[in-house]
Amino acid sequence: IDVKIYPGSKEGSLAIAKTIAELIRAKQKLNQKCVLGLATGSSPKTLYAELVRLHKEEKLSFKNVVTFNLDEYYPISREAIQSYYRFMHTHLFSHVDINPKNIHIPNGEVKKEDVKAACAAYEQLIEKAGGIDLQILGIGNNGHIGFNEPGSGIHSKTRLINLENSTRLANSFEFATISDVPRMAITMGISTILKSKQIILMAWGVAKAKAVKAAVEEVETERVPASLLQSHPDVQFIVDEMAASELT
Ligand code: F6R
Repeated sequence: IDVKIYPGSKEGSLAIAKTIAELIRAKQKLNQKCVLGLATGSSPKTLYAELVRLHKEEKLSFKNVVTFNLDEYYPISREAIQSYYRFMHTHLFSHVDINPKNIHIPNGEVKKEDVKAACAAYEQLIEKAGGIDLQILGIGNNGHIGFNEPGSGIHSKTRLINLENSTRLANSFEFATISDVPRMAITMGISTILKSKQIILMAWGVAKAKAVKAAVEEVETERVPASLLQSHPDVQFIVDEMAASELT
């Protein structure tokens, strides 16, 4: 895994935004769609702010962009302030010229008996779009990618998963109390992520240092889902100095 270390999250985020903008523009020149896999959480906020700036100030158009988000809480309503549907619209989609039809986010409102079919349909939509050109990832303190918690297999697909309590705790600041954090989520699987042509994982801050080290320098194991990225031919970790502090 190729690791690039930046002084801080700002510099790292700008570098990722630049890579995304170049890919979007290159695809535009070829009259092709640009299929992006997107993450939520605190890590990509500066990245999305920069993409919005590039749209507003440097004429970056999202007309040819198709997006697939990694995950969504389950169950959750789209309108909930904690939903990833809401997050993506607040931080990116409402501010750029993307066609709403090109936005895909796992549906946290689907009935329990329909979840399986919805997950299979999500996989098919990605395939139909020609696969993901560039997948953006964050990393959990426990090494998860998307909401693929430890134990997620290399062949896992989009599915309903139980969230670890550590994940619910890490995300609880968004909710009134920890018991309000949904116990489940719908997430792309590890195999879904590995099918992307290119992957960029970002990690900022010392809290991510152990997970980054385990993913990059230790053996590939389902116990650290991000380590399963080692088998992918085009993965880059963009980290700040704090997140890199455990690397040898
Ligand atoms: C979110 C996602 C998660 C987060 C991870 C880190 O869509 O897929 O894997 O990237 O939990 O979250 P933050 O960025 O809030 O530290």
